Amino acid sequence: MSTTAAVIGCGDVSAVHFEAVAKLDGATLVAVCDSDPGRLASAVAAYGVPGFADHLALIEAVRPDVVHICTPHDQHASVAADCLERGVNVIVEKPLAHTLAEGRRLVEAASAARAKIAVCFQNRYNATSQAMHSLLSTGELGAVVGASATVMWQRSAEYYQSRPWRGTWAGGGGGLMMNQAIHTVDLLQWLVGDVVTVSGNASTRFLAGTIEVEDTAEFVAEHANGARSAFYATLANAFNAPVTLDVVTEKAVLSLRDDLTVTYADGRVDVTPERKSDSGGRSYWGVSHELLINDFYGRLDEAETFWIGPAEAEKSLRIIKDIYRQSYPAPAHRMS
Ligand SMILES: NC(=O)c1ccc[n+]([C@@H]2O[C@H](COP(=O)([O-])OP(=O)(O)OC[C@H]3O[C@@H](n4cnc5c(N)ncnc54)[C@H](O)[C@@H]3O)[C@@H](O)[C@H]2O)c1
Repeated sequence: MSTTAAVIGCGDVSAVHFEAVAKLDGATLVAVCDSDPGRLASAVAAYGVPGFADHLALIEAVRPDVVHICTPHDQHASVAADCLERGVNVIVEKPLAHTLAEGRRLVEAASAARAKIAVCFQNRYNATSQAMHSLLSTGELGAVVGASATVMWQRSAEYYQSRPWRGTWAGGGGGLMMNQAIHTVDLLQWLVGDVVTVSGNASTRFLAGTIEVEDTAEFVAEHANGARSAFYATLANAFNAPVTLDVVTEKAVLSLRDDLTVTYADGRVDVTPERKSDSGGRSYWGVSHELLINDFYGRLDEAETFWIGPAEAEKSLRIIKDIYRQSYPAPAHRMS
């Protein structure tokens, strides 16, 4: 029997979700939803399924097995909670929510629900991330001493003007950190361990006047295991450079630059190549959306919750909101 799917929010990233569903054996797209009439009409024409302007109307009429929520950040937690409460499984795009309060609400809704939820931190499925995680979890490399990461990308004023929510606290809950660098924040804390304190700064350097939110940020984090991480991210770069992520352990240095290079203390060097994207998604989004989506569908009948759920996704949200709290004066939507 086929698993039925619907996509809520038919903007830029939805293409990756539509493509993954189309390729997935045993999954059938049955409906689309977008609050913008033009986007909805385009999606209905492109995919030949019924369209709805409202997610509740879609659930009422179609009752899909899984919804993919690809809406702006302020429309993640409320839409996801509505779906879970109605017994519909959810794949929601990152971040978990635009505020900590909404994120907590979704953590609680998920733990009360019989339906499952995944948050799209697909880069955990990258071949390099999986290799790093398995090397670090065996203990064979000794203790982690420290780590560093950079995200040096390029976004233009037009990127924000074409989707005004991206540049606002109310719609995005933040800028570069919430929208782009969050993947690397998530990887850093997943690979190195839980973050106990963070000292950071976020600011608007080159897009001041165009966006309210930050385009540049840095932080130092102390992890529960005693390791320290240094992090720098900006959208002022001239191109989308490969994310860098280095983890130093007692017995090796793990260095991510598209591919993973592990240099052991005895001089041995191992390289794990990353998969190359053949999907419509931009390569720097990561190549692993499809793997996460396939894994989620394959585990729908399992009793356990999905491994990247709201409680996992809340960790990166907390780190980022802590940096905002240290960087900006008080309006509540920036912090809470
Ligand atoms: N995982 C990744 O690598 C990745 C990559 C890109 C974007 N994203 C995430 O995907 C989400 C969408 O980003 P985008 O760039 O595609 O945005 P977008 O603005 O291009 O698309 C969002 C769509 O949602 C619609 N929408 C808004 N509110 C809605 C609602 N309540 N119900 C139904 N439709 C609604 C809008 O009309 C729009 O068509 C964001 O959370 C973003 O962070 C994730």
